[in-house]
Amino acid sequence: MEILVCGGAGYIGSHMVRLLAEQGHVVVTFDNLSTGHAEAVQWGEVVVGDVLDAAAVDAVLSRRNFDAVLHFAARSLVGESVSLPYDYYRSNVAGSLMLVSAMQRHGVEKLIFSSSAAVFGSSAVPIVDENQPLLPINPYGRSKLMVEQMLADAAEAYGLRSVCLRYFNAAGASRDARIGESHACETHLIPNVLRSMLGAAAPLQVFGDDYATPDGTCIRDYVHVEDLADAHLRALHFLEQAPGAHAFNLGNGQGFSVRQVIDAASRVVGRPVPYQVAPRRSGDPEILVASSRKAREVLGWDARWTELDGIIESAWRWHRAQPW
Ligand code: UFG
Repeated sequence: MEILVCGGAGYIGSHMVRLLAEQGHVVVTFDNLSTGHAEAVQWGEVVVGDVLDAAAVDAVLSRRNFDAVLHFAARSLVGESVSLPYDYYRSNVAGSLMLVSAMQRHGVEKLIFSSSAAVFGSSAVPIVDENQPLLPINPYGRSKLMVEQMLADAAEAYGLRSVCLRYFNAAGASRDARIGESHACETHLIPNVLRSMLGAAAPLQVFGDDYATPDGTCIRDYVHVEDLADAHLRALHFLEQAPGAHAFNLGNGQGFSVRQVIDAASRVVGRPVPYQVAPRRSGDPEILVASSRKAREVLGWDARWTELDGIIESAWRWHRAQPW
């Protein structure tokens, strides 16, 4: 297939580009490099441009007869979305609208969209399946939900085929440490743990240890970035015979607390994690774990990286190789 990957220079997008290229697909990355990294795209062609630039999107879609678009390009910091909501609605909602409108002009009828566990907000149940209410609690989550709703309308009106993949906590790096997670402003737990161990950041702050969980810290579902890429590939094949708009939750189905992550990182690295307990971070749900049953039944997908130590070890190998 010929695939356009918007946001292919980002963390999850670059793993996707690699998998597509390794599977023999023709892949073109379209990325404005605002948060992505040109050096992360080591497979296929790269076109620098913004999804908000209609002429640039038209130009890239004219290059080939694309079979599908994978849309990773987005702003993705929950806290930042609260202070800069216009930026989030512009990049994530208006950007997606520009992209799907251009796809329609170019006759591209399949889209895989990067959604998020954030569409569920603070779920009332610890294990979240697709039937849980969609009640995002910040502009980031709302921007993702708006696009999901737009895609459902587009399926009805225009026959656009789409899959929304709701990532829980994307984690890890490629097994050969060639690509990994690097954000200028890092908010995620595992990179922050590893950066603090490398001395590339201040000691880790544990946001709250008084939650109603076994060790008092929040529980999350860490799903390996290579497993996420694999889910996209399966979703792509699924769309060949499935009209309509679909959504799947993607996690490895197990929850790990912040303390368990810290313990696993010290096992992997072989020394203690420097950390201090800080106040709770506002908007953090206590427990968020995916039910990926639908993805298993419909896409035949299962997370292969299920061990926390293995996920962290892959991230550590990549982090260690960076010139922080
Ligand atoms: N945490 C710390 N210290 C840090 C960073 C995180 O204690 O330095 C804690 C958080 O409070 C939370 C857990 O580690 O309890 C995980 O936090 P992350 O920031 O790594 O991830 P989130 O669960 O907040 O975010 C994830 C996705 C988002 C998505 C969100 C939806 O990364 O894209 O889930 O709830 F929006």
